[in-house]
Amino acid sequence: MSRASSAREQAAVVPAEPVGQAAPAPDCILTVIVPTFNERANVARVVERLHAVLDGLAWRVIFVDDDSPDGTAEAVKQIAATDPRVQCIRRVRRRGLAGAVVEGVLASASPYVGVIDGDLQHDETLLPKMLEVLRSGQADLVIASRYIDATEVAEGLSPMRSLGSRFANWLGRLVLRQDVSDPVSGFFMARRELVDRVAPRLATEGFKILFDLIASQPEPLRIAELPYSFREREAGGSKLDNRVVVDYLGLLLSKLSGGIVPTRALLFGLVGGSGLVVQLVALKAFLTIETALTQAQHVQATNAQFTLAQFGASVVAMTSNYLINNEITYRDRRQRGLKLLLGYMKFCALCSIGLAANLAVSSMIFQYVPVWWLAGVSGALFAALWNYVSTAAAVW
Ligand code: GDD
Ligand code: MN
Repeated sequence: MSRASSAREQAAVVPAEPVGQAAPAPDCILTVIVPTFNERANVARVVERLHAVLDGLAWRVIFVDDDSPDGTAEAVKQIAATDPRVQCIRRVRRRGLAGAVVEGVLASASPYVGVIDGDLQHDETLLPKMLEVLRSGQADLVIASRYIDATEVAEGLSPMRSLGSRFANWLGRLVLRQDVSDPVSGFFMARRELVDRVAPRLATEGFKILFDLIASQPEPLRIAELPYSFREREAGGSKLDNRVVVDYLGLLLSKLSGGIVPTRALLFGLVGGSGLVVQLVALKAFLTIETALTQAQHVQATNAQFTLAQFGASVVAMTSNYLINNEITYRDRRQRGLKLLLGYMKFCALCSIGLAANLAVSSMIFQYVPVWWLAGVSGALFAALWNYVSTAAAVW
């Protein structure tokens, strides 16, 4: 057996905290990681509350701030200047809750790491209990869940958010095949080693760090859940937007495929799917207009009319696909201004090769089987693969 694998096996059975006479007490048992973006008004109170609940323990807190325009990092550093338990990592030109959490964990050295939001929505009084569960060796990961007790539910969520959150959870459970009531919770604690060993594989964007952490483990984890109720935000606003949701869906699908299909290809595919709907709607519209214009006697369009309509519909779909991909699939390298226009021209040039194939295939099919939607779909699918491969390499 190799040294690495025997070490991993040992780590799986022995709690990470040193035991026995010889082991010195670590100078820090727990590092609390607090990801922040525009939380200046909240950080001092977070530190105060941590002091209140963790008093008597060897703990630290690392704020990981993505260069918030409101000066959150300076606010934290002011506190850190006099409080040795407080540290700040200021990341520049990077955004992402998941990546911030991972970097915080990687910077820590304590056997246990906790993650809590920096907006006081999570109930920090749960932290000592979470640590106790981990130290007793009953679990590798403790999740503070909003959904264990149905009555405890999140007062801090609007009805719409609450519904979306439950749906996201249900999907997450389905993919994880593990009984976790809140796999997208942003409030959890784990043995640091769990994060360390999979860190290079974790996604850095979006809010799905906990889900990703569980899904990326080489073997199933022992997970404990503790109920709490999600508080309302006092200062500042939520950063969870539609992109975060789409991003999470992309990761779920990627995990469902066993990680074989990259998240980006899946997102591109999802966007393509929406493009297909756009294309079909536009195709139907163009065909209707053509029929009205030529006052044709027959119900079916002629071949030439169909090709023209399919061409127009493809241009419409191409434009919407470019804009949506730029906002979602490639948002980390999003084009703006002149580059947006140049990118669009490149995208169109490449897709027009796909479009030529699309037209050839769809016209041919329409000739033999005059079913407008079947011909339209076949042509579009044929072009999709080419489009993904070529634009991934040349546009973004
Ligand atoms: N460093 C960094 N970078 N921090 C971020 C970023 C980012 O890009 N985006 C958000 N944060 C920080 C916020 O400042 C806050 O401390 C915490 O992450 C949670 O962000 P919110 O914007 O307050 O999220 P929420 O309250 O809407 O969402 C909560 O519920 C989600 C599940 O429904 C959070 O607990 C999420 O973690 C959770 O996934
Ligand atoms: Mn919040």
